[in-house]
Amino acid sequence: MKIKIEKVAVFGAGEMGHGIAENCAIAGYEVWMRDLTDEALNRAMARIKEGLLKLQARGIIKNTEEILERINPTTELENAIKDADLLIEAIPEVFEQKVNLFSECDKIARDECIFATNTSTMSITRLSEATKRRDRFIGMHFFTPVVVMELVELTKGEKTSEETLKVCEEFVKTLKKRPIVLKKETPGFIVNRVVAPASVLRLCILEKGIATPEEVDATCRKAGYVIGPFELWDYIGLDVVCNAMKYYARELSPEYEPKYLERMIKEGKLGKKSGMGFYDWSRRPEVDLSKATDRVDIRDFVFLEINEATKLVEMGVSDPETIDSAVKLAYGRKKGPFEIARDYSDDEICRRLKELAKKFEKRIFEPAETIRKGKLKELLKNTS
Ligand SMILES: NC(=O)c1ccc[n+]([C@@H]2O[C@H](COP(=O)([O-])OP(=O)(O)OC[C@H]3O[C@@H](n4cnc5c(N)ncnc54)[C@H](O)[C@@H]3O)[C@@H](O)[C@H]2O)c1
Repeated sequence: MKIKIEKVAVFGAGEMGHGIAENCAIAGYEVWMRDLTDEALNRAMARIKEGLLKLQARGIIKNTEEILERINPTTELENAIKDADLLIEAIPEVFEQKVNLFSECDKIARDECIFATNTSTMSITRLSEATKRRDRFIGMHFFTPVVVMELVELTKGEKTSEETLKVCEEFVKTLKKRPIVLKKETPGFIVNRVVAPASVLRLCILEKGIATPEEVDATCRKAGYVIGPFELWDYIGLDVVCNAMKYYARELSPEYEPKYLERMIKEGKLGKKSGMGFYDWSRRPEVDLSKATDRVDIRDFVFLEINEATKLVEMGVSDPETIDSAVKLAYGRKKGPFEIARDYSDDEICRRLKELAKKFEKRIFEPAETIRKGKLKELLKNTS
């Protein structure tokens, strides 16, 4: 079945959906953006206009009005999906909500229409099972802010066809983005999964009162991160991060249970979108770099990333080169986990991972088999 994408239906007009709709319209596609209320759609259209005007002022695009005209906001599901060639779903990270939406859209969409999900964590195969088009179902994971971030992770489910993958790779390129294709699906895909155990460690550091969020962020920024991890979470939305970690807790290990975040969310702290998270967003927060502390060792986060990245290679999800590229693109870093691993001996990484696992009683920090056997350098030699 030959698929040519002209009309894109974006479901959800929140943080991701509005950016995806904007990006598709810039690339020349006719876009139907569906949310549940006019209020959400108006907010999204205002954000898109503001974003486009900024791009126009910088000479990146020429005609804001023309691009805006390509976006049709609607609350009607049928209007959005009936003639679409591609559906991109960006509704909340709640499995039942996504499944209900896909099954409803499946009844109305044209046969050729490809369904893509922007889920940050979930199984593409399991989501695809809500439809009769499992061969035309794919994970298309964008990063925030969508218009700026180049990386898109593409993940096939068990039944996704090569044709669907090819069409989606081409589509992502027309958005001027870099598609990275996973060899096998896994919770969190590449980028979010690589950093997941380090996220658990950072929450342990807060729980145990070892350092404050600002101290952790200042330490990371001083070490060259473009943004501190807690600042980034405030941008992403603590509800989004929490849902992702709860999914890992169910699928991978209960050690991912984000109790600290759940308490914050109960207090209404969702990050930037609610005005309060780890930081007070009544004005743009500035991390005080003098708060960097040696109570936080940046190498611990790095070693945990190397460890999880190694586990992904062991599982056949991806290869070191692709993982390094994805992490660099997603976090604006100069080096990926495997490039950094070359600066340390396997023994040093292994020893520290074992110490962390023992100190914080987390089995997810235990060294990967390749590291335990001292074979990480060998793996890198074979793949470089
Ligand atoms: N925020 C991020 O940084 C980020 C990054 C990558 C992927 N994601 C993923 O993208 C998805 C959306 O995240 P977000 O941050 O944009 O969430 P968000 O809460 O900002 O927006 C979700 C929007 O979907 C709307 N919605 C709910 N049900 C709907 C339905 N049936 N039809 C149409 N709209 C509906 C909501 O009203 C809301 O406006 C999630 O799966 C999330 O995990 C988020």
